[in-house]
Amino acid sequence: MPTVLITGANRGLGLEFAKQYAADGWSVIATCRNPIGVGELAQIEGDIAVYGLDVNNPPSLDRFVADLDGRAIDVLINNAGVYGPKGITAKDVTVEDWMPVMQTNMMAPLFLARALLENVSKGDRKLIVNISSIMGSVEKGAAGSEYIYRSSKVALNMVMASYAQEIADTKVAVVMFHPGWVQTDMGGASATLTPTQSITGLRSSIEKLSFKDTGKFMNYDGTPMPW
Ligand SMILES: NC(=O)c1ccc[n+]([C@@H]2O[C@H](COP(=O)([O-])OP(=O)(O)OC[C@H]3O[C@@H](n4cnc5c(N)ncnc54)[C@H](OP(=O)(O)O)[C@@H]3O)[C@@H](O)[C@H]2O)c1
Repeated sequence: MPTVLITGANRGLGLEFAKQYAADGWSVIATCRNPIGVGELAQIEGDIAVYGLDVNNPPSLDRFVADLDGRAIDVLINNAGVYGPKGITAKDVTVEDWMPVMQTNMMAPLFLARALLENVSKGDRKLIVNISSIMGSVEKGAAGSEYIYRSSKVALNMVMASYAQEIADTKVAVVMFHPGWVQTDMGGASATLTPTQSITGLRSSIEKLSFKDTGKFMNYDGTPMPW
């Protein structure tokens, strides 16, 4: 069966990805900052291995890549993300609040993708999937607030659209998805989709991807998202 690697798999969308792929018989490499006491993740049955990975910590990343020992990965899912302080308007934005969100949402996905490019090249599916957001769409997501999170996802889109071009000769496809507005700690209880609905849609869209889709930004249902 194929192998999927998921970051931030201890809760929210990452946990649901791990549950669904494991239930479907995939080999799941589930990563999270602190793999001790990860309740629901530890209870998932199937071919699942849980690793510690803080995506912002270079020694943690190096250790993790070494532990994988060149293992082939079919689908790498850069899911881990943070929102930062909510309700931020221009007068409130600070460098201290902005930097960690940019690091987690924009820089870390590229650092992980480049560290595991060889592993993904060895897989049959050859996919790097990045969980972006409609808030990273200038056309659909711009509004007079939330500068930190919006800018981090716009930047993620640009970084990954560029990386898609840089590594085109490897035939590894790099894509970005908006997962919908989902009931997680980040999305909140009023969100319109359950994690099950979002991840069912995302998995079906991921299943249909091929190299011709590299560099695209899509909704969870596979329809195009404007930049
Ligand atoms: N929910 C929505 O409506 C929505 C909409 C659009 C996009 N998204 C995106 O979807 C992705 C998943 O979001 P979610 O709703 O599942 O959020 P969530 O419930 O807040 O979960 C975020 C996950 O990211 C992990 N994470 C954060 N920083 C990390 C780090 N430095 N290293 C490793 N893991 C880290 C968290 O781990 P800890 O438990 O250790 O904090 C947690 O597992 C994010 O990229 C988010 O921006 C969500």
